[in-house]
Amino acid sequence: LKILSVVGARPQFIKAFPVSAALRREHDEVLVHTGQHYDESLSGVFFDELDIPKPDYNLGVGSGPHAAQTAEMMQRLDTVVADEDPDVVLVYGDTNSTLAAALVASKRDPLLAHVEAGLRSHNWDMPEEVNRVLTDHCSDLLFAPSESAALTLESEGIHDGVFVTGDVQYDAILRVRSTARERSTVLEDMGLRDGEYVLATVHRAANTDDRSRLEAIVSGLGDAGRPVVFPVHPRTENALHEAGLWEQVTTDENILVVDPVGYLDFVRLLDGAERVATDSGGVQKEAFYLDKRCVTLRDETEWVETVDAGWNTLVGADAVAIRTALQTDDPLPEKPSLYGDGTAATRIEDALSSYDDE
Ligand code: UD1
Ligand code: UDP
Repeated sequence: LKILSVVGARPQFIKAFPVSAALRREHDEVLVHTGQHYDESLSGVFFDELDIPKPDYNLGVGSGPHAAQTAEMMQRLDTVVADEDPDVVLVYGDTNSTLAAALVASKRDPLLAHVEAGLRSHNWDMPEEVNRVLTDHCSDLLFAPSESAALTLESEGIHDGVFVTGDVQYDAILRVRSTARERSTVLEDMGLRDGEYVLATVHRAANTDDRSRLEAIVSGLGDAGRPVVFPVHPRTENALHEAGLWEQVTTDENILVVDPVGYLDFVRLLDGAERVATDSGGVQKEAFYLDKRCVTLRDETEWVETVDAGWNTLVGADAVAIRTALQTDDPLPEKPSLYGDGTAATRIEDALSSYDDE
């Protein structure tokens, strides 16, 4: 098969890392980067350290209002899809890059395959919810990370082409965990000790674009009772400046503000953390994979199984709730296996190959 994979934002490079390797064993892959993320720390670093093949195309779309950004991606992608004429367009997750590619594929001949299908936050104010629902509903092949994601698709009338594969981010983290321990010097560089700090990330629009939520999060993190390492996404850095909170967060002696880090350093930081505070989708799962308690700075999550299992607590943007969850020592329940066995990439490749045989 000729598979045209589309990536554009940080988590998609990480998801593509195991999947591209599996696809290239049996198929021709054309890798397209939309250019949604372009900073070295949000894009280039992942290609360099993970040995992901260099993109065949970088569409250089960059930042912008959602409609303009998505429309620009669609126009540029449409030319590439017309020229390359792939059998399958493969998309990941729920970003604007995902939706743009899904719409382009569904208006042309290739099949559309969606990795991370069937997730729902049920919050329609979240741009990602719109992206993931629309993408699922125009996909031909849907790779669900869990049985419950597959059941969600079923409940929405999507019965064909659904495969429960497990989560490709589990594959990714299993591959790098020991390398990160061996090679990353991030703990020493930042003066941190294993098991003695909280790792925090924030970038969700609902948090960055609302001053009171951002202020409550900064205040809650400062009260963690342990040092907090906070690799700051550029969107959040801009928002903290605009909200007049940059000074507060960078001078708080309990918070270590750093630039976003590469995947090996991030996995090392996760591995050494006492617990995690985040509004990221991916980081909630990664905390679970590395046996860390997660405090989620959102009102709801699409990774519901981690909450049901007792390993993830939704605290919204409430300073008191954040502090309480960051300080609790309640014992954690036994950890179930939730998102597969770390072979999702191979299962995706198998599903595509079986489709090819038909
Ligand atoms: C995007 C995705 C989000 C995903 C996140 C992963 C959408 C709607 N959002 O959010 O689902 O969780 O990526 O990190 O697709 N910026 C830079 N440098 C960059 C990229 C962005 O400075 O390389 C700044 C720009 O000011 C930009 C802002 O960050 O306006 C937001 O970037 P954008 O790609 O629109 O959304 P994210 O918040 O990164
Ligand atoms: N990540 C990283 N460096 C960082 C922060 C996150 O490598 O400084 C990785 C993290 O391991 C995870 C992914 O980026 O695999 C999550 O991306 P993000 O939180 O930006 O997006 P989301 O998952 O919320 O869509």
